[in-house]
Amino acid sequence: MTSVLTSATTRPDVPRTATRRRYLMCRPDHFAVEYVINPWMHPEVPVDRDLAVRQWETLRATYLELGHRVELLEPVAGLPDMVYTANGATVVDGTVLGARFRHAERAGEAAPHRDWFTAAGFTRVVEPRFVNEGEGDLLVVGDLLLAGTGFRTDPRAHDEAASVLGRTVLPLELVDPSFYHLDTAVAVLDATTIAWLPEAFSAASQRVLRERFPDAIVATPADAAVLGLNAVSDGRHVVLPVQAVDLVARIADRGFVPVGVDVSELLKGGGGPKCATLEIRS
Ligand code: ARG
Repeated sequence: MTSVLTSATTRPDVPRTATRRRYLMCRPDHFAVEYVINPWMHPEVPVDRDLAVRQWETLRATYLELGHRVELLEPVAGLPDMVYTANGATVVDGTVLGARFRHAERAGEAAPHRDWFTAAGFTRVVEPRFVNEGEGDLLVVGDLLLAGTGFRTDPRAHDEAASVLGRTVLPLELVDPSFYHLDTAVAVLDATTIAWLPEAFSAASQRVLRERFPDAIVATPADAAVLGLNAVSDGRHVVLPVQAVDLVARIADRGFVPVGVDVSELLKGGGGPKCATLEIRS
């Protein structure tokens, strides 16, 4: 079911350590592509919802096999994008910064996310003032919060995220509509390592990222075209689309263990494994 790929090329001199994670996922019971809010979405292309559910179940089983904890958010009819829980909040040190969606079609997802955290006992759950699409555009790397803008998240949300979550923010500008969320253009592999697609960023943001992460793994356009960067790492295992073959090899070469999954149905909505996985950092 889970394929651990090409560990033979793993460099033994680079120890990579996994830490147990807690994730929030939402079964794609109502998944559909009914509107167009990103270039991946084509309502005329049929979606196989049963297959989407099976692929999602495999993703969930993969996390469980890796020893992680998976919490479930109840799906809501009429919210076909709710499977992409990464967009519903950002959680750092037990503080929950809720989302505010750019498009009316997804606005209804924000409250169920906040309510889940409140019901789960989180005492600091903040409803934001400015548009931010959760971990779609806010990525934790060590003590730093990478913050995307350009298509979805309002740049004013970056300061809001910094003050609510108590982290330094590195603002980054996305320029290619196919990579409309930061998590389609950057994968966080551990506290100091990222993989990325330089072309997805403005020249200024490319400079900032190169300076900050000189050892970053560079993805190929072919990787990015299957949302290969939409990956979930526990510091050692990197769960990513199995179709991203160049990235799989490059990640393995740096001592990580790539774990390929096929979420081809979720790709029709413009999302991959990471979009369907919200990390709960308590
Ligand atoms: N259809 C969804 C949207 O366009 C896909 C979201 C994908 N999520 C992500 N974290 N990139 O909003």
